[in-house]
Amino acid sequence: MTQSSVSSQREYVTVFFNGEAYRVPKGLTIMKALEYAGFRFTRGSGCRGGFCGACPVIYRLPGDYKVRVGLACQTAVVDNMYISLIPYVPLVEYVPRREEIKPDAGYVLKLFPELSRCVSCNSCSKACPQGLSPMDAVQAVLRGDLRKAADLTFDCIACGLCSLRCPAEIRHHAVFRLVGRIIGLYYIPRSKSVEERVRDIESGKYNEAFKKLLSMPVNEVRKIYEEYMKSGRLPEFLEVK
Ligand code: FES
Repeated sequence: MTQSSVSSQREYVTVFFNGEAYRVPKGLTIMKALEYAGFRFTRGSGCRGGFCGACPVIYRLPGDYKVRVGLACQTAVVDNMYISLIPYVPLVEYVPRREEIKPDAGYVLKLFPELSRCVSCNSCSKACPQGLSPMDAVQAVLRGDLRKAADLTFDCIACGLCSLRCPAEIRHHAVFRLVGRIIGLYYIPRSKSVEERVRDIESGKYNEAFKKLLSMPVNEVRKIYEEYMKSGRLPEFLEVK
C-alpha cells in the first residue's frame, strides 16, 4: 500500500480550537491533533502519558450543552469538538516547612478554611480525569480521617480541574499534597536505608564523586548513564561504598 493510498483512506474530523476550525485525523488525542494542525506546545505538556497533570482542557461536544473536562494527552478528538486549553490553574498556597506541620485535620483546615464550604455537590469528582473522588477525600478531611483522604488521592496528578469546577473554590490539589505530607511524616514508618544515605550525603561522603561528575562533559555523563542502564555497572569513582 502506498503512502498516498494510506492517507486517502484516512478519516478526518473538524475540531474548533479557540473558535477556529481545523481538519485533523480521527483518533488522535487533542494534543496530537493540535500539533498536527501546526501548534507547538511550549507549556501545558509534560509526560504525554496522563501522569503529570500539565494538560487540562475543557471542551464541548456537538449537540450537548455540557462543559466537559479532560487531559489533552488522553482525550481523543471527535467531530465538531470545541476545545480550549487551560495552561495553568492558578494556585496560591502556603507551603509549610516540615517542622511546622501538625498531624491533625484542624491544621489542614486552618491553612485551607474553604474546605468547610464543601456542599458535597460532587462537581470535583465528575471533573477528575483520574477517576478519583476528591469530594470523598474532602469529606474525609472534614471528618478528621486524613489517612482515608491520602489513600483516596494518592493518584492525584494535580491538574487542578477539580478546583476549577468547585463552587466552594477549594484548592483540592494543594490540600491533598499537604495531607500526603502529613501521612508521610507521621504515619509511614521511616526507611532505614534512606536515612543512612541522607547521613552519608550530609557527611560529604559523595562530594568528590559529585564534583567529578559535574565537571564532566554532558556526552560523557550520558555514556555513563547508558552503560548503567545496560549493565547496571558504574565507573569506579561512582562506586562509593
Ligand atoms: S502531558 Fe502529562 S498528563 Fe498530559
